[in-house]
Amino acid sequence: MAIRKNKISVIGAGNVGATAAHLCALKELGDVVLVDIAEGIPQGKGLDMYESTPIERVSVNITGTNSYDATKDSDVVIITAGIPRKPGMSRDDLLKTNAGIVKSVSEQVAKFSPHAILIIVSNPLDAMCHVAKSATGFPKERVMGMAGVLDTARYRSFLAMEIGCAPDDIQALLLGGHGDTMVPLPSYTTVQGIPVTHFISTDRLAQIVDRAKNGGIEIVNFLKTGSAYYAPAAAAVEMAEAIIKDQKKIRPVCAFLEGEFGYKGIYLGVPVILGAKGVEKVIEIDLSAQEKELLNKSYQAVKGLVEVLG
Ligand code: NAI
Ligand code: 2OP
Repeated sequence: MAIRKNKISVIGAGNVGATAAHLCALKELGDVVLVDIAEGIPQGKGLDMYESTPIERVSVNITGTNSYDATKDSDVVIITAGIPRKPGMSRDDLLKTNAGIVKSVSEQVAKFSPHAILIIVSNPLDAMCHVAKSATGFPKERVMGMAGVLDTARYRSFLAMEIGCAPDDIQALLLGGHGDTMVPLPSYTTVQGIPVTHFISTDRLAQIVDRAKNGGIEIVNFLKTGSAYYAPAAAAVEMAEAIIKDQKKIRPVCAFLEGEFGYKGIYLGVPVILGAKGVEKVIEIDLSAQEKELLNKSYQAVKGLVEVLG
């Protein structure tokens, strides 16, 4: 009997999408389908990636295409289609354009893969998760957004630079929307179990938190032609891997809340358990009054964008 391989489709073959597709192939998560509206781009990038598999010694198929036929029965779909921001633009400036793109893409995905788990990447992230959920009609555990894994990775990297330790030794959590109002949580930040305040003063920590909150624009200002993609792609693929391998990883994920943390009917970054069912559980952690206030500001910012979308 033939063994069915996992299938991961990546929609949008631009910087984040192509990098994510390549990482999925290198990690042998399953067969990869790369879809884009631009003719020739997914075909060329997909073939180029496939030609790297004998060198990388991985056994996966990679298909680049402009249609959704090959995505049929995908297990996980990563949606990166849309426009990225340029210097002077906020993530929110992308709202209307990307909402149209994410809606049409999500409808196609749902038609061909009604049981897939969706990881949204397109910005503004939290609002795009609302668009994808309503376009697909999928249950909340199967539509989530990638932001917190990236934002904490930036925060962990900056802390590691300061402390002079391995970034991987730092455990951190972050709440809220993927925007300037995101809430990194020093109270939940440890270095191999040691509170981060053992290593870094409160004032310096506040500066690092601020740098993490502005980590996206720091890269945009360097690149000038677009936004970050290596770390974003790695973050989305870490989530896909946790789902495909049912790893039950606890990660900050943009998840649909129905009362957790006191919020209802909104996508917001919170710690969750990621496994084969998608978002398997939202973990409600205790917050100080100040952390709650910051989270509330972030909630208001996301709510404002969702209201603009109607
Ligand atoms: P990019 O411009 O390199 O790639 C976007 C791709 O989407 C292009 O190849 C374009 O042809 C394609 N596309 C546009 N409309 C499409 C449609 N209807 N169907 C299929 N493909 C379509 O942009 P990049 O850098 O890959 O970023 C993609 C998105 O991800 C942007 O919205 C960006 O802001 C967002 N992003 C989100 C992050 C997060 O943490 N959530 C991090 C990094 C980027
Ligand atoms: C980032 O954080 C632009 O959302 C993207 O790099």
